[in-house]
Amino acid sequence: MTPAAAGLVTSNESKTASIQAHIDRAIEDLLASLPDPGQLSAEERRGILARYTAVLEGNFIYWMTGAYISVGSDEARAKIMDNLREEVRDCHPGMMRRFALAAHAAPTDADAQAVYRNLMNVRLFIGRLSAVPTVVTMAFFEGFIQRFMPYLAELAQRQGSSEMEYTDVHGVCDVTHTQELFRALEAEMTLNQPMPEKEMFEGVELLRTLIQNIATGN
Ligand SMILES: [Fe+2]
Repeated sequence: MTPAAAGLVTSNESKTASIQAHIDRAIEDLLASLPDPGQLSAEERRGILARYTAVLEGNFIYWMTGAYISVGSDEARAKIMDNLREEVRDCHPGMMRRFALAAHAAPTDADAQAVYRNLMNVRLFIGRLSAVPTVVTMAFFEGFIQRFMPYLAELAQRQGSSEMEYTDVHGVCDVTHTQELFRALEAEMTLNQPMPEKEMFEGVELLRTLIQNIATGN
């Protein structure tokens, strides 16, 4: 490796550390903004479960596939393919549906309509196939989901469900997985031109708005 290339790797490492810090803060803020499950009515709890299902069941694999198509490095491709393989092999959309059904929270037309616009914004963002912002967005989303699972499980329990496979599988804190994801991001940053922060975190902002929409219904 030339000294110039070595310098680039080091600067991308410190850049991904600052991106990770930004993502961690965004996750903390989002978790802190969630309504207290004990203060919600049964219909409000059902609504959160149903809107979450309306978004995740049919879109997560699409988003991950978009990420796979957009990246150029072997590290990022391998990481995302591991994720896709697990999603399909273990039928995560089916797991999601069973979770919603058991909590009597299968999404209705109105639930889908409530998240329509913000979901569309995330879909269109993924469709731009811009590698670095897409990988940043998926890192944010995976980090968020993991921390959100106890909350989602509590809502389902309060709705009388004991079907927790979905939240158990997705709530595992996998440090190695997170490290690999940020190494994949470093590799992508080496292949792509630097970009302004606003562009880098555009998908994170769109997804954050969508999750707030899931949590509040508006
Ligand atoms: Fe999944």
